[in-house]
Amino acid sequence: MVELRPMRKPDPCVLVIFGASGDLTARKLIPALYEMRAIGALPEHFKVLGVSRREKTDDAWRAELAASVQQHAKRWDAGRWAEFAKCIHYFAGDAAQTAMYSGLEERLRKFDEESNTHGNRLFYLSVGPELYESIVQRIEDAALVTEGKRWCSINSSERSWQRIIIEKPFGHDEQSAASLNRTLGRVFEEEDIYRIDHYLGKPAVQNLFALRFGNALFEPLWRREHIANIQITIAEELGVEKRGAFYEKTGALRDMVQNHALQLLCAIAMEPPINAHADAIRDEKLKVLRALKPWTPETLNQHVVRGQYSSGNLNGHAVPGYNEETGVNANSSTETFVALRTEIANWRWAGVPFYIRTGKRLASREGYIEINFRPTPHAIFQAPSGGVNKLIIHLQPKDGLELHLFAEGQNKRLQNGKQASAQLSPVHLDLDFDKRFGSERVGAYERLLLDVLDGRLNLFVRSDEQEEAWRWVEPILQHWAADTQGPRHYAAGTWGPSASSAMIARDGFCWSEEI
Ligand code: BG6
Repeated sequence: MVELRPMRKPDPCVLVIFGASGDLTARKLIPALYEMRAIGALPEHFKVLGVSRREKTDDAWRAELAASVQQHAKRWDAGRWAEFAKCIHYFAGDAAQTAMYSGLEERLRKFDEESNTHGNRLFYLSVGPELYESIVQRIEDAALVTEGKRWCSINSSERSWQRIIIEKPFGHDEQSAASLNRTLGRVFEEEDIYRIDHYLGKPAVQNLFALRFGNALFEPLWRREHIANIQITIAEELGVEKRGAFYEKTGALRDMVQNHALQLLCAIAMEPPINAHADAIRDEKLKVLRALKPWTPETLNQHVVRGQYSSGNLNGHAVPGYNEETGVNANSSTETFVALRTEIANWRWAGVPFYIRTGKRLASREGYIEINFRPTPHAIFQAPSGGVNKLIIHLQPKDGLELHLFAEGQNKRLQNGKQASAQLSPVHLDLDFDKRFGSERVGAYERLLLDVLDGRLNLFVRSDEQEEAWRWVEPILQHWAADTQGPRHYAAGTWGPSASSAMIARDGFCWSEEI
C-alpha cells in the first residue's frame, strides 16, 4: 500500500552494505540499485560502500558485480552500468572487529565532504544473523549514528539521518528477537529500523492490498459467512543449494513460516486500516497475529506436519536428499517442509481454517493463496462434484488473479432425445498482471529500497509484529524438539508427505493439486 506523498527525489546518502561479498548483494541488491538508477529513482548524490573481509579494489568489486548484474537485471546496458558503477566503492574490513569502524567512519566522512552525501547513512545488514547485534553495537560505539545532530557543512542547515535495514532471519526465537530489538532500539529510533521481509515487496502482495482495500467488491464476502477455508502455498523446486549449514540451524518453519507465510496471512486476514500510514497497517497486522489460536498438545499433533525431502526426481533430473546435501548432517532432523492449520479467533474469521504449506524440492515452484468460498446454500443446478467458487491470488511465478466460477456451457446435450438437466462447467476469469502492466513494474528489492530511501515503513515489519510471530511459532519448535519421531520423509519432486493431505482431508478439504 502506498501512502500518498508528494513526489520528490530521495535525500543524498551512502548505502553501507555489510556482507558485500554475499549472494544477496550480487544477486538482488546491486541489480535492484542499477534498475533504480535506470528509472531515475536514486538520489543524485549517492554512494554504495560494500564492506567485506577480503582485500579488493573498487574496480575489482565493480567487475564482479557487473557479471552478476548482467545475469540478474531486467535490462543490461554496458554504458549505463559504467556510469552507475562510479558510485560503487569497496571497504575491506572485518565487521566483527572494532578496529575497522574508525576507518569506516573516516571513509564515510570523506564521502560527505567530497560527494555531498550530507551525513545520511543507510546501513544494510546482509551478514550472518549472529553478527547483527555486534555490528549495531559497533556502529553506535564508532558514532556512526548522528541523527538529530546537524550535518557539519558550512552551507547546510539540514539534519542528517541514519537508517538500518536488517535481513531475515530476525532472531532465532522470541527471546533472541526481543534482544535484537532492544539493541537496535538503543541505537536507532523505531522509525529508522527497516526489518525486511522481501515477500512484502513482491508486486503480487501490493496487488493483494489493492484488491482488498482499493475495491469494494470482495469486502462483503471476505468473512466467515462466505469463506470455507484459505490456503497459502509457497512451494519451491530448489533445494538448500549452498546454504546447507545455515539451513541446518534454520529449517522451513523459521525460514518461511515465521515471516513470509505469516505476513501473507496477515495481509489476507487483517481489517482495513484506517489509512495507508505504516503504523495503521502494522497495527492491523499485529491484531491478526495476536488473534491466532494458541497451540494445544492436540493441535500440535494434529495440525502441524513437518517433512524432509529425500532423493527424487525433479523435471527429469535425479536430485539428492536433504541429508546428502553439503553442510547437512546425515542424521539431520531439520524440516524442509511444513504444513499447518490454524484459525483466527475474531468475529470475522472464527472457525475458518487457514492452511499454510511451504517446502523445498516440491513438484513445482508456485506461490499462491487460495480463497475457497462456501457452496451455494441450495443447489438447483448439477454442479461438478466438489466444485466451489474460489479466488486464487497467484504470487509467483505468475502474478495475477483467477476467479473460478460456474457457467452453463456447451455441454447441454440431448440424452435419449430429452434435454439433460443443466450441468454446470467450471470457468475461470484470469487476470495476468505481468501481461497487463509488463515492464512498468518494479521488483521486490527495488520497491523496498525505494521505500527505505523515502523513509516509508509500510512494507517493513515492526518490532512487536516480529516478536508476536515468534511467540506463535515457538510452541511448534518446542514440540518438535521433544518429539523423537523426526520429520516425515517425502520424495523430492512431490507435494510433501502424505500427512499434509491427510491433515486437510480431515476437514473435508484438499490442496488444489488434488482436485
Ligand atoms: C528466503 C528464504 O527468505 O526466501 C529462502 O531464506 C527461500 O530459503 C526464499 O528460498 C524464497 O524467496 P522467493 O522470493 O524465491 O520465493
